Amino acid sequence: MSKTFFIQTFGCQMNEHDSERIAGMLDEMNFKENPDRDKADIIIINTCSVRENADNRFFGTLGLLKNLKMNRPDLILAVCGCMMQQQHIIDTIKSKYPWVDIIFGTHNIHEFPKLLSNILNERTKAISIWEDGEEIVEGLPSKRKHKFKAFVNIMYGCNNFCTYCIVPYTRGRERSRKPEDIIKEIRDLVDDGVKEVTLLGQNVNSYKGDENTHFPELIYALNDIEGLERIRFMTSHPKDLSDRLIKAFVDCDKLCKHIHLPVQSGSSKVLKRMNRKYTKEGYLELVDKLKNAVPNIAITTDIIVGFPGETEEDFQDTLDVVDKVRFDSAFTFLYSTRKGTPAENYEDQVPEDVKHERFNRLVEAVNSISAEKNRMMIGKIEKVLVEGLSKTNKELYTGRTDGHKLVNFEAPDNLIGEIIDVKITESSTFSLIGHAVNL
Ligand code: SAH
Ligand code: SF4
Ligand code: F3S
Repeated sequence: MSKTFFIQTFGCQMNEHDSERIAGMLDEMNFKENPDRDKADIIIINTCSVRENADNRFFGTLGLLKNLKMNRPDLILAVCGCMMQQQHIIDTIKSKYPWVDIIFGTHNIHEFPKLLSNILNERTKAISIWEDGEEIVEGLPSKRKHKFKAFVNIMYGCNNFCTYCIVPYTRGRERSRKPEDIIKEIRDLVDDGVKEVTLLGQNVNSYKGDENTHFPELIYALNDIEGLERIRFMTSHPKDLSDRLIKAFVDCDKLCKHIHLPVQSGSSKVLKRMNRKYTKEGYLELVDKLKNAVPNIAITTDIIVGFPGETEEDFQDTLDVVDKVRFDSAFTFLYSTRKGTPAENYEDQVPEDVKHERFNRLVEAVNSISAEKNRMMIGKIEKVLVEGLSKTNKELYTGRTDGHKLVNFEAPDNLIGEIIDVKITESSTFSLIGHAVNL
């Protein structure tokens, strides 16, 4: 009987996709996925380090797994992902959580089968971290979570060093894949039934594949792939949002009319200290350009509250941006100090109670706009890719609109994998309800 594995993934799409890669490699080694973590022969935890509670949750999980490991000494426990690119974390695991068998980082997932074989054959612990791999390893297998949509990495790493952020330290410097490798991967995915791709990069719009292929040119090239129906991308940095990319939204029919454009703060003073390289006015100008070129474009964002030195006035600027842009939705975060980042040493940290109080006001503002924007969708007919049954109501199907809004809807059985018209009949803050029409 083949051995089984369970992967627990924390963090962003980058990590989700890395987990698909790890599952693909295990599949090739003839391991089977096991939905029950506590029965699996191999447990892999793919970690995120972007905020402190991510680190804490991971150590909590490791603590719980100790008992399992004591009851089943043959269980193999592997940990990987962004936390493993930091020496202080590795040291903590080695000293306090010695029941971990395999540690690997974000630059060397392709070495996982070798590390695993070592341990299966010799039962020795395996630790392998790459400092900052410049090399891009092509051709790794991948076991997709969804049949009709796929993540495609187009670039890795980040050069921006926003002063709060750990990612440049855990994912290394920016490196872009060759356009021909990306096009080939997407053609193969389409042959395998994929209708929608999401292009991934920490800073996806700074992609430079070669002299003539920057991000917009890549989009134009992908728009020509026959059988591909939707292109999405994330995450873009406002500093790299060129006029040419805005034009691509107009010219490329497959490019979904949605952009995730993290603003982080509405205060130019805070933005400068965050090293974001744009101002409040610059951001608002970009949004105007986008809305003028693509009137119905959905704009979503990330916002951090309580960055060091943030005053009530700075926070009012953030609320003002929320009010002016009217984001379709926003991920809101309490600023969290990350070891090794410049902002760790800023002395004017904002007290916890002030952070929380601002956070609550921000969430309220953001949610009421999301709810209103969703309410405005009632009565409209939207194109939706039918992904499968809804998680919350098995009578309904689920999918996303072009603008990336989640819809649950009534539809006939045979439409999974199709892009169909759905009439929106109800709305809430985070999702829509409707039924298939024009069949
Ligand atoms: N590369 C992307 C996203 C990186 S992490 C980008 O540049 O936008 C995702 C989000 O986490 C960030 O956009 C930011 O809003 C948030 N984040 C990153 N570091 C953080 C920190 N130290 N504290 C709180 N939020 C943080
Ligand atoms: Fe982090 Fe900034 Fe890079 Fe995004 S652009 S990953 S927030 S350093
Ligand atoms: Fe987390 Fe790493 Fe993504 S730190 S947000 S998993 S790049």
